This record gives sequence, C-alpha cells and structure tokens, in this order.
Amino acid sequence: MGKLLRKTNPIKVQPELFENDFFENLRHTEYANLEESGQIYLDFTGGNLYPKSIVEKHFKYLLSGVYGNPHSTNPSSQQSTIHVDETRQSVLDYFGATDDYYCVFTANASAALQIVGECYPFSQESVFLLTADNHNSVNGIREYCKLKGGHYQYVQLNYEDLKINAQKLEEGLNGFEKETNKLFAFPGQSNVSGIKHPLELIEKAHEKGWDVLLDAAAFVPTSKLDLTRYKPDYVSVSFYKIFGYPTGLGCLLVKKDKFAKLKKPWFAGGTVTWVSVNYESYFLTENHERFENGTVNYLDIPAIKNGLEFIQNIGIDNISSRIKSLNAYLIHQFENLKHSNGETLFNFFGTKNPEEKGGTFIFNVKGADGKQFPFELVEQKANERLISVRTGCFCNPGIDEVNSCVTTDELAEFYTSRDHGSYHDWVTFVGKIRGAIRLSVGIATTQSDLDTFFDFVTETFKDKNTQDFI
Ligand SMILES: Cc1ncc(COP(=O)(O)O)c(C=O)c1O
Repeated sequence: MGKLLRKTNPIKVQPELFENDFFENLRHTEYANLEESGQIYLDFTGGNLYPKSIVEKHFKYLLSGVYGNPHSTNPSSQQSTIHVDETRQSVLDYFGATDDYYCVFTANASAALQIVGECYPFSQESVFLLTADNHNSVNGIREYCKLKGGHYQYVQLNYEDLKINAQKLEEGLNGFEKETNKLFAFPGQSNVSGIKHPLELIEKAHEKGWDVLLDAAAFVPTSKLDLTRYKPDYVSVSFYKIFGYPTGLGCLLVKKDKFAKLKKPWFAGGTVTWVSVNYESYFLTENHERFENGTVNYLDIPAIKNGLEFIQNIGIDNISSRIKSLNAYLIHQFENLKHSNGETLFNFFGTKNPEEKGGTFIFNVKGADGKQFPFELVEQKANERLISVRTGCFCNPGIDEVNSCVTTDELAEFYTSRDHGSYHDWVTFVGKIRGAIRLSVGIATTQSDLDTFFDFVTETFKDKNTQDFI
C-alpha cells in the first residue's frame, strides 16, 4: 500500500509541452505536502489543493488581529467588516464585475444556486431550460420551478463529443415565445467531461428573452471569466475549487439589473433594514446583504483575497495554457496505451481536442477482452497506490445517461417501481453498469503525476481480462 511506481512509461512527451519549469517549481514550493505524503492527487475538479503561502498568510492574519462579528461599530467588529468588504471588492474586481454585479457570499456554489432556485420568479407562465450537462445543484432548481407550476426542459448533448446539441439548443431557446420569466442555465465547464461550453450562449439566450444562470464552479479554477465581456445574470462559484483554501465559501454574482427580479420569500438576520413584530411588514436590504442570511463566515472570507492574489500572480491565462499542455499529454496517452493484442486500455469520453476542454477527463479502463473493468475495482487499486481519482456519476447524471446509453423507458421503469433507490439497485434492476472514472488536473499537477497514473494502470491492467479480477 502506498508504494509509488517507478516511471517506466515508454511513450515520449512532446518536449515543448513541459519546457516551462515554473509549475514544477511551484509544486515544490507551494505543494510540498504532496511529495511528503507520497500522494498523487488527480481530483482537482473535486477540490483544488491549498498552496502553503495562502494558508500561512491567513493564519498570520488571524493571529495578528481581533475580529468580531460584523454589523456593529465596536472595534473588533469594524475590523471584520473592513476585511470582508475589501474581499468582496477583490472578488468583484477579479471577475471584472465591479460596476455591474453584486457579490453575495455563500457557503458554496450549491448555496448560490439555491438562492436563484428559491428566488427566481417562476410561475405557470415560466420555463427553466437547462443543458443535460449540469451539476445536480443546477438540476435541482427544476423542483423550485415545478413547485410554482412552471415547465422545465433539458437540452440534450451530442453522444460523440458531449457538446450541447446545437439544433436542440436552438429549438429550446426559440421554443417559448409566449412564456415570461424564462431562465436558461448551463455550466461554463462541465464538471465531468471538462468541455467548455461557449460563453457566447449567454448573449444568444439574452437576445431571445432569457435570463441566464452560468454555473462557473468548474470553469473559473483554470479559465478567465471576464464579466465585462460576458454578462450572465447570475453566476455561481465555489472558492475552494479555485485555490483550495478556504473551504465552505462560494459566491453568487448577481447582475444589478436582475437583482430585484429575485424575490426572496423570507427574511433572516442581516438581510433586513427594518422589521416589526406587531406589524407584518419588513424591508429587505437593497444590496448583497439581502441574500446573506445571518452571520457571514467573517474569519475565512478574508482568505479569499489571498487566494485571488495567488492566482493573479501566476496569471489565469498561464494556468489555462498549462492545463492545455497537460490535456494534450493526457489525450495522447488515453488514445495510445494499448494491450499487446492492440485493444486500447481506455474508453475515453468527450472531445479529443485539448483546446476545447478544461483538465477534467472521464473514461473507463478496458481489459484485453474489450470489456470494461468495474470502476470500483480501478478506484480500489488506485487507492492502494495513494492515487486520488474519483469514480461514479459525479453529481451529473445527464452526462452519464448519454455515455451509458440509458433510455428514458429504463429510467421510467426504475423510478416507478420503487420509493427509494441507489446506484446498486439500478445496476441490479437494469443489468447495466453505469459511471466512469474521473481524473482532473490543476495548478499543482506535474508530468510525473500523470506518468505515475499511467504506469499504475499499465502495470495493473495491461493484458488482463475482466475475469482475471473476479
Ligand atoms: C460545475 C459544478 N457546479 C456546482 C458544483 C457544486 O459545488 P459545491 O459542492 O462547492 O457546492 C460543482 C462541484 O463539483 C461543480 O463542479
């Protein structure tokens, strides 16, 4: 358990892909805990790793001041207010959102999405259009829409490349001329296939009368989101996905001219300017505070500023280029590693163009007999080597339903035959394995990590048949 493999991969990397030592050096200075623990971390879409310097900087900040609950004039409270306000400003500046958006701090991207679901004015006349590639925290908004009698519709994906089907999208965006309060939601980058969906869709949807919710949680860790150029109405973000620390914080960016459209159905501490007990009325605050229920995470919020500075010092465009280099290498290996009989070792889903995607890959490992090994087996073997990948459906069932060729009839039979169910019930019921393995790379990934992973797969599964592990 835990023994690292020697690098025996015979396939040559294109040298220009890794000529820049910057990221290799960064790995040693900021992420030394990886080497020290002998771990290979390939789950960056799950969560980024925290660089040493931002943790140290934040601990210094905490130890050098006294910070009380904001919203008071006492000195410790004022200190917190100053730092929270500064951080909010730095988030807005980072995304080019300074003039046009509010930044609402939330617990994570899901909490940001929930605000939109709960407060968007869905009604019997409204429609929620969303791509089949979406995280469950976006999929779940359909339940708010249904509760208010609204209609929801999915835009399907292409089987071949997992991009949004252009014709279906056109039909969806054009199809609801009479409806009012129409919300279109899509992810800037898929948390499963890594595909970057075109941000031009925002303007296209606007032109056809839609409000746009951009789930940027998987996009912003390695790509620039410039809100001076693209203007979605609502944007969800989780900060730990960008720079690892702190966890438990995200934000909802709300375009100022769509702020009043969100109808908050209740009030809480910190969200009102005036409220009465003996009279039923209340006044909500007229800015971000309206959606920040109770006390914000005032001790951790200032750490976001350090994280953003860390990314800015490296340059998000440099991070994007680095990811594209890693992608090119990964795609080459996925396509070329073979069993001795010529059968490929990987069944890899989605586009093969490194430019069209972020650093997230899904695949299954295949035996020499052409059948796929259960993803649980691959994960278990990877765990034994201290390699962190993720398996399953990744809270994005739409992608998996496409990849696994699941039919609507099968889903209907499954859901109508029971009150509750799990992945294992599904496999028994339909007799089909679903799910895949996800490998995702980030700022701290080196070629050596990828080679260790491919060595592991080759040593464990090359020339083996699926029955060999039963
Ligand atoms: C695209 C996308 N949206 C939303 C989420 C939810 O983020 P969180 O779990 O931080 O709320 C994730 C998490 O992986 C994601 O990748």
